[in-house]
Amino acid sequence: MSRTINILFLAAEAEPFIKVGGLGDVAGSLPRALRALSTDELKLDVRLVLPHHPAVKTETLKPLGMFSLPRNGAEIQVEASETSLHGMPVYLIGGEPIRASGSVYSLNADLDAEKYAFFSFAALELTRHINWQPDVIHGNDWHTALSMYGSLTKRWEEGARHVASVITLHNLPFMGPDASVIIESYGLKLAQTDLPDWARVMPLPLGLWASDAIVAVSPTYGREILTPEYGCGLDEFLLSRGESVSGILNGLDTVSFDPAVDAALGANFSVDSLDKRPVNKRLLQERLGLPRDPETPLLAVVSRMDVQKGIDMVFAALKMMKKSKWQAVILGTGDPKLEAAAMKLQETLPDRVKVETRYDAGLARQIYAGSDVFLMPSRYEPCGLSQMIAMRYGCVPVVRAAGGLNDTVTHGVTGFVFEKAHHMSLSAAIKSALKVYVDRNQWREIQRAGMAQDFSWENSAKKYLELYQSLLKS
Ligand code: GLC
Repeated sequence: MSRTINILFLAAEAEPFIKVGGLGDVAGSLPRALRALSTDELKLDVRLVLPHHPAVKTETLKPLGMFSLPRNGAEIQVEASETSLHGMPVYLIGGEPIRASGSVYSLNADLDAEKYAFFSFAALELTRHINWQPDVIHGNDWHTALSMYGSLTKRWEEGARHVASVITLHNLPFMGPDASVIIESYGLKLAQTDLPDWARVMPLPLGLWASDAIVAVSPTYGREILTPEYGCGLDEFLLSRGESVSGILNGLDTVSFDPAVDAALGANFSVDSLDKRPVNKRLLQERLGLPRDPETPLLAVVSRMDVQKGIDMVFAALKMMKKSKWQAVILGTGDPKLEAAAMKLQETLPDRVKVETRYDAGLARQIYAGSDVFLMPSRYEPCGLSQMIAMRYGCVPVVRAAGGLNDTVTHGVTGFVFEKAHHMSLSAAIKSALKVYVDRNQWREIQRAGMAQDFSWENSAKKYLELYQSLLKS
């Protein structure tokens, strides 16, 4: 007998429609990977719903008409439309609060709260409008957390049927602003929760409280958020939910990130043709204006310029390592102070350090394929994607033992892992990498081991499916 599980997957962003960060990669891949697990016996009807941000790009768009949400004794209009992604229905929710804020993440917290509260409640109502009942609603981060909250309170107040709820945590510190007034304006009450007082009015904590399952984007991050160091004040609450908290590692789009066919590279290569890889190093050195030297290890950073990412530790570590032989390329934008510090480092060491302060996906791929060592000393890293891409491209990662970095890189086997968030620990780790680098054979072993890792989405999707099934059983 064939069964179907209906899953509504909500996110603020998803590739290829709109992408700002790692969440966009996940939301563009995981729903499709889940659908691909469908068999004759079990069909997974996953549908994605996104805010219709002004910058969303779609080729086809079918209007689904308007409906409204009650708000402050009046009504607020929702404009729904539908597009698709490789056969998966994708719904776009439009309306005034989404237009008003403009960008995906606005600097104005109030505009963002209005937008995402509207989106979260409208997404729930959409399922009635299209007459499609989800068995599971799966939200991501604070932006969609009020859907979980709304779903639970509706069930209590209207006796609606039980819908299982899952929330994936990509970044715990971002909880959304105080949304109590907005929540009440949509006719929902603020529930009596066991959350800390300050958290009882914020979207993410309310969503965590209301969800049947809380999933961090890596097993290590799933444990870290239960500690005061990473728990952002919610560690005790999360500990009390211990049984519902887990970690599932994100996957990587292994079709898009494949050095054997990547069109951005000067020379394609695979684990069996690593001898072609050095062409990419030469081309990269040329492109960046670095001395063309195949023997000098080329260190790389591809990252948002953010304190989270520990970029400041890279600058400090490199400054201390003037005596060793290395070159470095740093690509990324973000915090103006960190960008300025990167430029300063380039001024101090002009023939060794090249900095590009922009977003450039093509150059990023050439860096993964052409440099030798990838630096990722994050202070916290829920999952992280770049270290997986680096390994797949034969670029050996040096990472801090945090979150997903800890789960994806094995010290001495696929890369180098250090513990303390301090530039001295980072420079010690870089130095051990450079020591191994001179031994060509050993270095190749590490490159090969990294390239052989299976980071495909299928593994993660299977774990999410198991989770859905266990929730639907209970
Ligand atoms: C956030 C996290 C990052 C994770 C991504 C996708 O951007 O900071 O570690 O990889 O979400 O889950």
